[in-house]
Amino acid sequence: KWGAAQARGLFLVFEGLDRSGKSTQSKKLEAHLQKVGYGKVKWMCFPNRKTAIGTAIDLYLRRQLELPDEAVHRLFSANRWEMAKSIVEDLKAGTTIICDRYAFSGVAYSAAKGLDFTWCQSPDRGLPCPDGIFFLYIDEKVGASRANFGDERYENAEMQAEVRNQFKDPRLRAQVNWHDVDGARDKEAIHAEILRAFEAIRQEDQENRHPVQRL
Ligand code: TMP
Ligand code: MG
Repeated sequence: KWGAAQARGLFLVFEGLDRSGKSTQSKKLEAHLQKVGYGKVKWMCFPNRKTAIGTAIDLYLRRQLELPDEAVHRLFSANRWEMAKSIVEDLKAGTTIICDRYAFSGVAYSAAKGLDFTWCQSPDRGLPCPDGIFFLYIDEKVGASRANFGDERYENAEMQAEVRNQFKDPRLRAQVNWHDVDGARDKEAIHAEILRAFEAIRQEDQENRHPVQRL
């Protein structure tokens, strides 16, 4: 069904507020693709807290390190640049990448703190561009009601509401194949909708093959 001649892997990104179900849904998509024998699939997330830069980001998020907003914005972007080469190599080798957060979170969260939107986009320019975004939208109150909300920096209702506004900005959406998915429903309904969107992205890729684009 999946066509053996898939030229390169697809780069698929999940975005949304904290506790919007990105991790659950991205792992469900990965498990589904493994199950149907889709080919090589790799799951990753940003921030990648395992690298040296990611360690600083982790300390910042857990409020054990203070940094100017501009500096931490650049660290989040640098944390993606650390992986950029391996992402492109994996895609070229036919591996599909499923990624929990990417540059869209980078812009939405920093712009929510008051940094200039275009300034926020600039350090990510040139990164590998996803083939599709699944944006899980929830009311900020839904996230706040879910388990473990409130542990980290940014996990408060005012910040989440502002991030939600920033995610509506057409300057984020214009760049990419963006799918809004209602994240307030049950897990299986959301998963089914994501599979339909995935199928559309895959078909579009087969009809119109192109190399990995840049942000
Ligand atoms: P996580 O909850 O997915 O682990 O992400 C940690 C926090 O970092 C989350 O509140 C979103 C925020 N974030 C940014 O502010 N900029 C970024 O570039 C990324 C990837 C995440
Ligand atoms: Mg979080």
